Amino acid sequence: MTSVFGSGLGTGVQRWQRSHNLGELNADHAGKEVILMGWVHRRRDHGQLIFMDVRDRFGFTQVVVDPGIVPQLLDAASAIRNEFVIALKGIVQKRPDGMINKAIATGAIEIAVKELRILNACDVLPFPVSEDAETSEALRLKYRYLDLRRPRLKDNILKRIKFVKSMRRALEGQGFLDIETPFLYKSTPEGAREFLVPSRIHPSHFYALPQSPQLFKQVLMVSGFDRYYQVVKCFRDEDLRADRQPEFTQVDCEMSFVDEEAVLATFEAITRQAVSEFFDGREIPAFPRMSYDDAMEHYGVDKPDTRFELKLQDVSDLVAASGFKVFAEAISTGGIVNALVVKGQAEAFSRKDIDELTDFVRQYGAKGLAWAKKGAGSGLAGWQSPVAKFFSDETVDAIDKKLNLQAGDLVLFGAGGYDVTKASLGALRNQLGARLKLYEPSQLNFLWIQGFPLLERDAGANRWIAKHHPFTSPRPQDIGLLDSDPAAIKASAYDLVLNGNEVAGGSIRIHDPEVQKKVFATLGLSDEDAQAKFGFLLEALKFGAPPHGGIAFGLDRLTMILTGCDAIRDVIVFPKTQKGTCLMTGAPGEVSSDQLRDLHIRVQRLE
Ligand code: AMO
Ligand code: AMP
Repeated sequence: MTSVFGSGLGTGVQRWQRSHNLGELNADHAGKEVILMGWVHRRRDHGQLIFMDVRDRFGFTQVVVDPGIVPQLLDAASAIRNEFVIALKGIVQKRPDGMINKAIATGAIEIAVKELRILNACDVLPFPVSEDAETSEALRLKYRYLDLRRPRLKDNILKRIKFVKSMRRALEGQGFLDIETPFLYKSTPEGAREFLVPSRIHPSHFYALPQSPQLFKQVLMVSGFDRYYQVVKCFRDEDLRADRQPEFTQVDCEMSFVDEEAVLATFEAITRQAVSEFFDGREIPAFPRMSYDDAMEHYGVDKPDTRFELKLQDVSDLVAASGFKVFAEAISTGGIVNALVVKGQAEAFSRKDIDELTDFVRQYGAKGLAWAKKGAGSGLAGWQSPVAKFFSDETVDAIDKKLNLQAGDLVLFGAGGYDVTKASLGALRNQLGARLKLYEPSQLNFLWIQGFPLLERDAGANRWIAKHHPFTSPRPQDIGLLDSDPAAIKASAYDLVLNGNEVAGGSIRIHDPEVQKKVFATLGLSDEDAQAKFGFLLEALKFGAPPHGGIAFGLDRLTMILTGCDAIRDVIVFPKTQKGTCLMTGAPGEVSSDQLRDLHIRVQRLE
């Protein structure tokens, strides 16, 4: 076996330099001598002949070792195992006609090996790299470098890089400048909990890692940079889900001298160009727009998946006076009754299935799920439903008519307060859409949502909080309502939704220090608080701030959808687990008492 000295690539006349990568050789190269390097993906021992698929980032090339012809290859060839790193010198030869593999770019050739070097060995693998065998995610995260060798994950990462390139090209084409902003920042609560970094030089003082570069990009507008963007890490100490990571990447953007319409037009053009380029020229249609109120009313969520219908329909007025207490009470206490009509599925859903749907909506706070199966006939005779007995023929007919029910339809009813009923049926709608395959997964439905409320009530603390962030401008026509009716104020804020996911969000900012002060006051921030937290922004706004606004794309989410993945972990090279840990490096970890002393910190566990 060739031993591994130095790089293994040799020196002097023995020095080997890679001549080609493993994705580029074809029949035109036949007869050429080449030097190739890579990982042994698969090895097939056919007695005298040993075939190996050698892999690198660019592809696979089949090599043939024939110790019968070159006896000195025998030792090396028989020592080699999967994922060994090898270098070989050989001659490109065309494969016999029946042996051509059309599935890979190099499938028309193979390399007849003349010399072979083992550059490095590989331990017994914790899971196979050459097959997509089911492997626990914990193991895949611990040995992330091996998982990243697997074609599926590697391709996701390459696609992410391709998309970022397209975004950069589109942004730079529109004059956006890539400007970096600090990570060691001041704690400026924007919504999510922050990660803190203790200062060594200033005892008991902390930096915070930015939740986003929001205030820096606004200040850059005050500085006159006009158009800014950055592909940037953001840090939020939130509860994690499949589409949330504690550190994630935004394509963060800001522009000057614009209103809401101009921002939407600019970023719609940029997104369409980048996504089209990503898909090698796929036509991306213009993005429809929907108001926040309509989204909530018809889809129950502020990020509707418009690839399928199945809208929420209001039947409150039809059942308000019915004998069904659950419905009547919901309405008399200010709530609603909504229905989802699942077309033609009455037979497909058993009682047990409906019980499962009921458990599902309970997770969202709903108290239950009433249902009816529409059969032949009209009035009560046409309904199979445990709650039919509470209704008159007239009510059933009115519901049939309003919902346009046909024999074979299943209707699901939710009753209760507006928020819980919408949220639970909205989630149920998405669940049913996926379960019944109501859409083509590869379809891309972009959608702008506009007209968000500026404020929402924090019921626990009995105060107003900003729905987007406190720097978002009210719609110009609503600024006067700050004193009289804060609940009615709509924001100049917008989200971009893709297939039911919020993939970007932004707003027009307040550029008038007086309005900003007023918004802070409405949020219950005293002048001193506002000064202490955001004084630099209030001050900057006084020195000639242009009207400005922007948006931030959630790059991980966007790439997840564009690559057809279910979790953002699948498009991030080194993601954290749902518990915020890195299984490869072991973060977060304990630190030494010396480190803590330097930081003037003593750790005391609070129960
Ligand atoms: P926002 O908080 O809406 O806006 O964030 C913008 C986009 O970032 C993505 N995102 C996340 N992705 C993964 N993990 C997370 N924990 C996470 N949190 C958010 C979402 C979201 O749409 N400064 C403002 C933007 C602006 O006003 O310009 C901001 O950060 O896709
Ligand atoms: P109950 O009167 O609690 O036995 O409920 C009768 C039916 O109404 C059951 O099918 C419940 O799932 C359903 N139900 C109860 N509460 C609600 C609600 N808030 N919305 C819709 N259906 C409900």
